[in-house]
Amino acid sequence: MKELIWLNGKTIPLSEAMVSVEDRGFQFADGVYEVVRIYNGRPFTLTEHLDRLERSCGGIALDLPMGKTPLAAEITKLIDQTGVKNGMIYLQLTRGHAPRNHVYSNPKPTLLFYARTLPPMSRPADVKGLKLISVPDERWSRCWIKSIALLPNILAKNTAVAAGADEAGFVHEGIVTECATSNLFIVSRNILLTHPVGPKVLPGITRALLLNLAAELSVPAIERPVSEAEVLAADEVFITSTTRELAWVTQWNSRPIANSKCGPITTRLHTAYQSRVSEQAQGQMAKGK
Ligand SMILES: Cc1ncc(COP(=O)(O)O)c(C=O)c1O
Repeated sequence: MKELIWLNGKTIPLSEAMVSVEDRGFQFADGVYEVVRIYNGRPFTLTEHLDRLERSCGGIALDLPMGKTPLAAEITKLIDQTGVKNGMIYLQLTRGHAPRNHVYSNPKPTLLFYARTLPPMSRPADVKGLKLISVPDERWSRCWIKSIALLPNILAKNTAVAAGADEAGFVHEGIVTECATSNLFIVSRNILLTHPVGPKVLPGITRALLLNLAAELSVPAIERPVSEAEVLAADEVFITSTTRELAWVTQWNSRPIANSKCGPITTRLHTAYQSRVSEQAQGQMAKGK
């Protein structure tokens, strides 16, 4: 399989790609990114990801250097060229390179994306539950921007892994906002609960699709702050992200969640999610995309 990258309009081997030391992404983390899942050789929910990219760009006063339609076409073309069937696209847009200065003038943005293979997803009941630990949410108040400035998330995730856990849950004044690399949901008395998106929560694409699926399945859902005590008392807890779809949680700070089994609502939602993935892949094949 060829590892290729699309870098500012040129497709070249990933190993040969170079970006300036004075790229503002490298020096200031001055940029935004997206991770898009590839199923069956096709990008999943690409429109939603590019819409969020555009909103993130708006949040840092940066214009997308090309329209979303030609960008989507280039992404699809790269996936075909690489032959990746199950994997992800990593896309990054920075404010480009210019002599180091906090003040930005008008540098030319650096836009790149490449595809990478991921292992196929398992059925919900076949995977082990995740262990989460809590960390203080000390991030800024523009978490709705998918910024490449990820140091707080990286430190949180590494704290979790060092403690033998899988993911870190951010807690702000007793409220669980989201996780280092995912959104968090709980099920309490058959109601799905998750923190609203906004200053402290990234509008996850998986999260949004899941809320739509919950509505279709008549699972009542409420977007409101969820306390750490509610997580501990929940009937089911799971996280969502592009690369992990839904992943159920078995422990929070070493305390078991419910009866440490993947719950029925989590299973139903995940099954519906995977059906949506198959439907989209089949629909795209039918349209020859
Ligand atoms: C902080 C954070 N929240 C939530 C998510 C989930 O977002 P999505 O479903 O769009 O992958 C991610 C994914 O990277 C994330 O980094």
